[in-house]
Amino acid sequence: MININEKNLEFHLKNEQISYIFRVMEETEIMEQLYFGASIDEYDQYDFLIERESKPGNNQIEGSQITNLDDIKQELPVYGTTDFRQPALEIVYPNGDRISHFAYDRYEIRQGKMRLKGLPSTFGSSEDVEILVIFLKDRYSDMEVELHYAIYKDFPVITRQNIIRNHGTTTYQLESFLSLNLDMPNENYEWLHLHGAWAREAQLSRDKLIIGTQQITSTRGASSHMHNPFFALATPETTENQGRAYGFSLIYSGNFLAQIQLDTYDIARIQLGINPFQFSWELAGNASFTTPEAVMVYSENGLNGMSQTFHNFYKEHLINQKWVHKTRPVLINNWEATYFDFDEEKILTIASKAKDLGIDLFVLDDGWFGTRDTDDGSLGNWTPDLRKLPNGITGLAEKIVDLGLQFGLWFEPEMVSVDTPLFSEHPDWRIGNPKKHISHGRNQFVLDFSRPEVVENIFEQMDKILSTAPISYIKWDMNRYISESFSATLGRKNQGELFHRYILGVYALYEKILDKYPGLLIESCAGGGGRFDSALLYYAPQAWASDDTDAVERLRIQYGTSMVYPLSSIGSHVSEVPNHQVGRLTSLEMRANVAMFGTFGYELDITHFDEAESAEIRKQIKTFKNYQTLIHEGDFYRLKSPFGNNETAWLVVSKDKKEALVGWYQVLAKPNPAYQRLRLTGLAAEKTYIVNEDGQETLRKGKDLMSAGVLLGENLINRSEGEQSHKRYGDFQSRLFYLSEK
Ligand code: GLA
Repeated sequence: MININEKNLEFHLKNEQISYIFRVMEETEIMEQLYFGASIDEYDQYDFLIERESKPGNNQIEGSQITNLDDIKQELPVYGTTDFRQPALEIVYPNGDRISHFAYDRYEIRQGKMRLKGLPSTFGSSEDVEILVIFLKDRYSDMEVELHYAIYKDFPVITRQNIIRNHGTTTYQLESFLSLNLDMPNENYEWLHLHGAWAREAQLSRDKLIIGTQQITSTRGASSHMHNPFFALATPETTENQGRAYGFSLIYSGNFLAQIQLDTYDIARIQLGINPFQFSWELAGNASFTTPEAVMVYSENGLNGMSQTFHNFYKEHLINQKWVHKTRPVLINNWEATYFDFDEEKILTIASKAKDLGIDLFVLDDGWFGTRDTDDGSLGNWTPDLRKLPNGITGLAEKIVDLGLQFGLWFEPEMVSVDTPLFSEHPDWRIGNPKKHISHGRNQFVLDFSRPEVVENIFEQMDKILSTAPISYIKWDMNRYISESFSATLGRKNQGELFHRYILGVYALYEKILDKYPGLLIESCAGGGGRFDSALLYYAPQAWASDDTDAVERLRIQYGTSMVYPLSSIGSHVSEVPNHQVGRLTSLEMRANVAMFGTFGYELDITHFDEAESAEIRKQIKTFKNYQTLIHEGDFYRLKSPFGNNETAWLVVSKDKKEALVGWYQVLAKPNPAYQRLRLTGLAAEKTYIVNEDGQETLRKGKDLMSAGVLLGENLINRSEGEQSHKRYGDFQSRLFYLSEK
């Protein structure tokens, strides 16, 4: 997959779907980007991809009359080379200058990619993936940069990761080191990304690229509710099902920068990596620094093609393989049913009813430790509250397991409240400068996870619980951002390392827990989707997508989240009505029909349900379990977007195309509505499918379902009056169609 023209030093990474080409530029020996897109042939030389015109009025690099780097597409732009755009690597030298020149030295090819420790990254066998490593040497120091390009055989994907090594004894200061720089000719691109806030995560926006810089970032210590570390570029003609799109995703949970700088020569400089904001890293002698990995996807099949690549790629090459083909438990979580107000008896009543309904796992949420009756204390004191749970977590968990359920438990490991022994004993373990203000968020403070002893303390506390109770699942929450970054132990020069060291500490704790409890299923959460990123999927194969569980809001949140993340990772529950976030009343059916396109579970007080409601839940769980493998392992296609529309539709098709499940949703009812039909996609044209809606079956050819579609109105011919079913009557409607090959 890696072809090298040794003479011209041109590098072509190629599989059946994509090509990525760059070369060593004459004179400067920097890496020049030539092409990323659909697979092209191998040539003896790629001169035809080189764009070089004299641009008057620019600076020329020393010794040349023609070369300025300001309009040259590059792989690793640095400062001080006549390129005035944003660099991808910036170093401060001991005398304070920032002028670097990283020139090509050699390359290496490696087969296979190991699962890394300490920093989540993609992995694959030597048959699946090859890595090209380009070594660049700084002309002014003993520093060396490695550019790692991984190409996967079966995916239109290249991943990028960079390492800088200081082979000398002088100390340097890294001010920025991005994971990905890609300079691409603009083609009237539009950029898509996911933005939001608490309870309305993953809202999709799409705008024309404009000259100048557009960026999304996090400065909050977590990838954040506000922006997801993902964006895509698509041509204006690109739709869900057709057209060209490039997707970029960063495998990182901390502060990130995702930026496109469109210059006046119509080159888009695409950058993704750790946010240089407040970042500064001391690179001592013999030390090295590794960036997070960035993933680039190319699609010729529209945004669905891009998303399916992300889904399948992350399932095969990022998420812990243990979970990919394993059926996830249908769970019930007590949060919206009880909040902090519960005791053992109440929990056992919910759990036994849950068992009766067919639920697999009970999750005890916040409020089981210390004396936590509200959200104002006890975080960091992970000892069971014996007032509520006289038999502790062990006693409760054993009773729940005796009922025939698995048991799961909520933790918020990274936080501390001031009323805890942990805080009294170690006030300096809290992030912030004690001589200045330290803001609280939900009355709590962030522990300094850059310090191994802090991580160790929390590990020991969690271990005490996990080793003494039958716990199969953890919900790992994180409910506030870091607002005044300062660590008691990092010196003046090293405070800029805190955000990154913090997130490395989080990864370290995940690893310690999973090393000791490899069978544990972890769902990550950050006040909903505040840290829904690919890095955490490396440890926790599912994430709570939002605290907003309203079915209508969830259409947008799940649709947006599916741009990058597979349905098997999208935590989704049927919750209480009126909904606790927006007060909306939707039917149990609508709530389940939305939640099914995710991990599926319940989060409401089921104890007051009558027989009819209980029967409906039993049926929903049965339905979900029938379709679970299809939903979690099939290919997902978005059909109609909820953004700005009254209707939403999507479907998931099994890999062998023998089955599919369609979800259709309508928010508000319309009087005397227009005809509606839904054209499907992704089916096998020649297969005949049994289309089953609630037991009513019709036979249809795949190609017919993809052209004529499913008619959503009614056909009253030959029906008597009074037989009208008013399928679209009332607000918040949903329908599921299950297709199976005849
Ligand atoms: C966060 C989570 C919720 C719940 C609460 C508990 O908001 O997102 O699901 O666990 O914390 O305090």
